Amino acid sequence: MKTSPHRPTKALINLGAIRYNIQQMGAHIPQETLKWAVVKANAYGHGAVAVATAIQNDVDGFCVSNVDEALELRQAGITKKILILGVSEVESIVLAQQFDLTLTVAGLEWVRTLLASQSDLSGLKIHLKIDSGMGRIGFRDASEARKAQFLLQEHGAYVEGIFTHFATADEQSEAYFYQQLKCFKAILAEFKNLPKLIHASNSATTLWHAETIFNAVRMGDAMYGLNPSGKVLSLPYDLIPALSLESAIVHVKTLPAGACVGYGATYEADSEQVIATLPIGYADGWTRDMQNFSVLVDGQLCPIVGRVSMDQITIRLPYIYPLGTKVTLIGSNGDKEITTTDVATYRGTINYEVVCLLSDRIPREYY
Ligand SMILES: Cc1ncc(COP(=O)(O)O)c(C=O)c1O
Repeated sequence: MKTSPHRPTKALINLGAIRYNIQQMGAHIPQETLKWAVVKANAYGHGAVAVATAIQNDVDGFCVSNVDEALELRQAGITKKILILGVSEVESIVLAQQFDLTLTVAGLEWVRTLLASQSDLSGLKIHLKIDSGMGRIGFRDASEARKAQFLLQEHGAYVEGIFTHFATADEQSEAYFYQQLKCFKAILAEFKNLPKLIHASNSATTLWHAETIFNAVRMGDAMYGLNPSGKVLSLPYDLIPALSLESAIVHVKTLPAGACVGYGATYEADSEQVIATLPIGYADGWTRDMQNFSVLVDGQLCPIVGRVSMDQITIRLPYIYPLGTKVTLIGSNGDKEITTTDVATYRGTINYEVVCLLSDRIPREYY
C-alpha cells in the first residue's frame, strides 16, 4: 500500500520515548542482562527501520518474526544481532549465513529436513525454542531439543541460545506463569551443555517478573510505551507511549435535523448538527467498530458518528471549526488524552493490535 503524505493523517512517533522506555526497563533489571528490541511487524506499526536505527546504540540486538523483516534491517545498515523468532524455511539458512541472522529452531523434523539437504551449516547461529506451555512452536521434550543441539553442532552450526515464551505473564493470576517457568527450568536442567544465551522474558515478564530473567529480555510492547496487560496490571514504573495518531478536518457542514450520515444511513441527526469529515478510515486501520468512539478536537471529546468508511470518518462537533483543525485520534489534545489502550478496550482487543493495524497508508513522522 502506498503511503499518503498529501493528506493530514499521520502517526507521530516519539523516538525519545522509545529510548526512555528502554532505559527505564534496563534500570529495573540486572545490569548484565542483554536487551533485545522486538521490532517485528514494522516495529508494532512504529516503523522498523526508523526505530531500529534510532535505538541501535541502546540495545544489544533485535528480534523480528521472519527473514524478510531481518533483511529489511540489514539492508538499512543495522549490524547488531538479529534473532528471527518464527520458524524459517529450511532454504533460508543461506540468507541467515550470508546476513548473519540467528534462526529459531523449534522441532526435530525441521533439523532432519535441513540435514537431508546436505547444506553446509558453518557459521549458522541457532536458538532452540522450548514450548513450555504456549503451545505454538518449540520442543516440548528435552531429549528432542538436545538431539537437535547435537545434530546441528555436529554439522557445524553454532547453537548459541535456548528460549521460551510465556502465555500469561501479563495476567493477574500467576499460576500458569510459574508452571511454564518450572517446565522451562526442568528442560534446561536436562542439558549437559547449555547454550550460552538463555532467555524467556517478553515485556510483561520484564515488568512484573524481573526476578525470573535469565540472560536477555525481548522488549516489545512496553518499549513502545504500552502496557502489555492493557488495564489489568499497573505499570511498576512509568513508560511513555511513543505513538500518537492525528488527522485534521477536511470538510465541515451543518446538517439539519433528520439528515443522515454515512453508509447505511445509520446515523440521523436529531437536531441541527455540525458534522466534520476526517481523511482516515478502515483502510488505515481505523476499523469499522470505532463507530461511536470519540476523537479529540480542541481538547474536547467529539463522537464518531455514522459508519467508518474505507477512507473517511465523520465526527460531530459542538460548533464549526475551520478546515485544517487538528484532530487527535490517539494521544493528548488540550488536557485530554485518548490512549492506544482506550482504543483497544473499546474495540475489544489489545493495544498491540491497534498499533500493528495502522496501515502503510499513514505516514510515520519521527521526532
Ligand atoms: C517470542 C516472542 N518474544 C517476545 C515478544 C515480545 O512480546 P511483548 O511485545 O509482549 O514484549 C513476542 C511478541 O509477540 C514474541 O512472540
